[in-house]
Amino acid sequence: AIDPNFEQNREKVGEENGVAVWGPVDPPEKLGIHGTHVAVDFDICLADGACLEDCPVDVFTWVDTPGHPESELKAEPTHEDQCIDCMLCVDVCPVDAIDVDPG
Ligand code: SF4
Ligand code: F3S
Repeated sequence: AIDPNFEQNREKVGEENGVAVWGPVDPPEKLGIHGTHVAVDFDICLADGACLEDCPVDVFTWVDTPGHPESELKAEPTHEDQCIDCMLCVDVCPVDAIDVDPG
């Protein structure tokens, strides 16, 4: 599962698609955690898609990640600023790849 304390335990290494990336990264196999308020661990996400289908405000967008061992698509929290903290995505992700921090 995603580390809920990633902001303490990881370093911000850059930005992609308008969201922060928390390392370590070593593409294409290791992609880190994407997003801050809504965070997706790209190294755990296996492209189930439940978060995209269920988010009431369409926070997530598919991005291509060719060569990643878990899946070649990931849910990028592109519109994390629109999140209403319903926690649905956290509940439906089968591999607990998502952390939402209402604080
Ligand atoms: Fe969307 Fe709710 Fe998840 Fe926020 S907590 S990203 S509004 S499903
Ligand atoms: Fe990935 Fe979980 Fe969404 S596996 S696509 S973050 S439901």
